[in-house]
Amino acid sequence: MAFIVKKKIKGNEYFYLNENKRVEGKVKTRTLAYLGKDRKKAEVKAKEIIKKLEHEKIRMEKEPEAKSQTPTIQEERTEISVEQLATFCKRRGFVYPSAEIYGGFAGFWDFGPLGVELKNNIKREWWKFHVFGREDVVGIDGAIITNPKVWEASGHVGHFIDFAVYDKKKKEKFKVDKHELSKYENNPDYEILGEFNPMFTTQVGPVKKDSVTAYLRPETAQLIFINFKQVYENARMSLPGGIAQIGKSFRNEIAPRDFIFRDREMEQMEMEYFIKPEQECPYEIPSVDINIFSEKMQKENAEPEKMNIRKALEQGIIRRKWHAYWLATELSWFRALDVSFDNLRIRQHLSEELSHYSSDTWDIEYRFPFGWKELQGIADRGDYDLSQHEKFSGKDLKIFDEQTKKRFLPHVVCEPALGVERAFLVFMFDSYFYNKERDNVVLKLNPRLAPIKAAVFPIVKKPEYEKIASEVFDLLKNEWSVIYDKSGSIGRRYARNDEAGTPFCITIDEESVKKKDATIRDRDTKKQIRVKISELKNFVKKLIDGEEKI
Ligand code: GAP
Repeated sequence: MAFIVKKKIKGNEYFYLNENKRVEGKVKTRTLAYLGKDRKKAEVKAKEIIKKLEHEKIRMEKEPEAKSQTPTIQEERTEISVEQLATFCKRRGFVYPSAEIYGGFAGFWDFGPLGVELKNNIKREWWKFHVFGREDVVGIDGAIITNPKVWEASGHVGHFIDFAVYDKKKKEKFKVDKHELSKYENNPDYEILGEFNPMFTTQVGPVKKDSVTAYLRPETAQLIFINFKQVYENARMSLPGGIAQIGKSFRNEIAPRDFIFRDREMEQMEMEYFIKPEQECPYEIPSVDINIFSEKMQKENAEPEKMNIRKALEQGIIRRKWHAYWLATELSWFRALDVSFDNLRIRQHLSEELSHYSSDTWDIEYRFPFGWKELQGIADRGDYDLSQHEKFSGKDLKIFDEQTKKRFLPHVVCEPALGVERAFLVFMFDSYFYNKERDNVVLKLNPRLAPIKAAVFPIVKKPEYEKIASEVFDLLKNEWSVIYDKSGSIGRRYARNDEAGTPFCITIDEESVKKKDATIRDRDTKKQIRVKISELKNFVKKLIDGEEKI
């Protein structure tokens, strides 16, 4: 039985949802969720969580019965190269090289009918988790081009530098960080081409002689810092609290590569999480087991070690509770969207690798076919940015602390920063299965991410079936992206939709005319059940939310 508890920490009240469970004869209490600081909101949140848990329990109880009916499925998760994924994405309308009819344009990509839906769903899920789901975070949408002084203050004009190196054997250029440069100096196989600032410039003002040189933003973060004080006041924020943003960023990469992994135009999902200096983290760290690769392990050439993030904090491998909390929280977002933890690890930046603004950074890395690479960065930025903007703008950006009656500059204790395209790649690689029997790809995307939620078919072309199928399509189309598909054999239609990642196919047949129902087929289990058309919308909603399974 779950129940709400109140904890008082440094004069503030925090609410949690706890549960007592008998383990080996002893009653143990565990925390299920943090509910926020407001009792009423905590009660509403608790009710929602308890309802979800009950659904999950019923599902688990049904599972043994369900398993015995499962058809044998000849599907295996298949490791493919990034080139194979790019080919698949083009063939199925996920991603195209931009301006391909003109020979493309390196580092720029266009997203097709399925790609735009997947991308929008990734952004929606991120926003739901980071903004709607938390009472301590609000969102903004800042300008792509802003006053160029912003980038002088942030250090991007002076310190945002890439080094280009030419590999004489492979005849290709690549970028290295300053700390790696010594590997290529005095090596006859390489030539160091020089340093470059990856910010794109543009002229603002139509009359050339009066125009100003400005930059396309290389990160969304600075728009949060320059608006911090206004947002803090308008949204009546208190600390700890965050400001989130999703939007385009641009970097003139020396060597855009690996499909959409390193782009010149990309989208970022970033959050700046502000605290009072030295403010302790009051939240419980989600329990997450993950491979951990600390600076010490890297310097001692040791292997990453799998452990719980809570333990890594206890052992001082992760220095700050805030960092452990945000790493575990970000990982639990990926877990909720079905990314396998075998392909994820967290790696601490070496001190010589840290960005100019950071005192400690951990990356969530993914095992891509081209190696372990950064998926998401989580940096402690301290008060670097706000103090730089105070200095450069001459404006006071401090806020007033009601408790100490003093003005202070908040610190960004963690900045989770994730590229939409990198998340896109991870979800695609992780859900790529192959059906040997049918000889087609099955994209086992979480239904919340799937570009098309349901495909509606008349089993054969008959006016009475088609009439019901189009009524079902109309019933669902205002809620989700659904398609009405009546061409080809039923097998072809299933295969086509499995490849698009469509989790549910709804078929109208003879019985549907008599009984006013439809068959729903699950993409992963291949099981089918009949559902009354009057209950269909609600049932599909539960399937998408994971509250029902077929
Ligand atoms: N505000 C902090 C920041 O921008 P970053 O590590 O440079 O930090 C954050 O970028 C995330 O943005 C990366 O972890 C990655 O997911 C994504 N990203 C960065 N550069 C990218 C590029 N050229 N192409 C695609 N995604 C990129």
